[in-house]
Amino acid sequence: MGDLLLKILVAIAIFSFSFPSSLSLPFIVIHGIGDACGNRGMKHFTELLSEWSDSQGYCLEIGKGAVDSWVLPLQNQTDIVCEKVKEMNELSGGFNIVGLSQGNLIARGIIELCDGAPPVENFISLGGPHAGTASVPLCGSGIFCVIVDALIKAEIYSDYAQEHLAPSGYLKIPTDMSHYLERCRFLPKLNNERPNERNATYKEKFSGLKNLVLIKNEQDSVLIPRETSWFGYYPDGAFSPVLPPQQTTLYIEDWIGLRALDEAGRVKYVSVPGGHLGISKSDMKKYMVPYLKDKSSTQPQQISSWAASVWDKTLYKVGLQDNSAPLSPLSLSLDELKAGHSSMSGGESGATMSVKLSRGIE
Ligand SMILES: *[C@@H]1O[C@H](CO)[C@@H](O)[C@H](O)[C@H]1NC(C)=O
Ligand SMILES: *[C@@H]1O[C@H](CO)[C@@H](O)[C@H](O)[C@H]1NC(C)=O
Repeated sequence: MGDLLLKILVAIAIFSFSFPSSLSLPFIVIHGIGDACGNRGMKHFTELLSEWSDSQGYCLEIGKGAVDSWVLPLQNQTDIVCEKVKEMNELSGGFNIVGLSQGNLIARGIIELCDGAPPVENFISLGGPHAGTASVPLCGSGIFCVIVDALIKAEIYSDYAQEHLAPSGYLKIPTDMSHYLERCRFLPKLNNERPNERNATYKEKFSGLKNLVLIKNEQDSVLIPRETSWFGYYPDGAFSPVLPPQQTTLYIEDWIGLRALDEAGRVKYVSVPGGHLGISKSDMKKYMVPYLKDKSSTQPQQISSWAASVWDKTLYKVGLQDNSAPLSPLSLSLDELKAGHSSMSGGESGATMSVKLSRGIE
């Protein structure tokens, strides 16, 4: 009898030792272009997810935030976040990632390319240009836009653009695939698109995810096509039709393990109403929180529609609360940047960006 009791006690001791009091993994948030962790919208977003999931959340800044999210090549942005992730003791037991817009590609950089980082379990992606974006720049009429437009139109795959404009790392013009594959520096690598340079490690790491939650905004007009947030895209050489993820070569030949993940039931394709990065609080609770909640949960809790309807349905605009600078470089106008200037750093950084760019152009 005493022996049994001892065994039970030992079992309990071992159990509590191997499962420390908090079961939830921490998570990091990686913001989109033109945003910054210091912006009230980003703080609020991170705090809400933290509160609802009862796990620690950290918004990781990319260098100088808004400015660097524009001008630093994505590989450099990834390197910065990768170093931070490795330095944070809080993340050493593994962590989850919430990516927003461009931040999703940095997130994937952390998953696939960050040697020595702790494992990423769940990756929740809102509005990510995973398969690229083909939007044609129609920025506006200000000097900033004139420069950006010229840069993007004329030489998006030039060394200059690749080294000074983050979005050039994932602008994928389907009718210019040869230049894209040859000269675009980030996405072709991340997606293992170059036939002679496929790295099995990227695939192995990406397919090691426990859950990949791909959230698409139904009215997204920033990502072209919006299905890119599910890894859907145009076929090589044409702007139509939009292929669902399962019909792309990336999926069929399984360059990065998306197919393997999908066949194991670990990819959640989610569609929510709203424009780019728009998500309601109830949808955050439904599609993000369950994956941040519990180390051992692989299934989201079922939330009844009744409960969901009781929750606040106000559209919650990530990072746009007090930052009117849009998150897309391609729909940016100087007026909007100026409008943003009066509120917070989004506009300010935009202004700084234009100065940097025009210096570079001279
Ligand atoms: C980006 O990283 C490369 C390689 O580490 C470096 O040579 C380059 O100067 C960096 N670019 C910027 C703008 O920091
Ligand atoms: C593949 O990627 C891993 C991780 O970044 C790297 O250590 C390795 O050197 C790469 N292999 C090749 C052949 O490039």
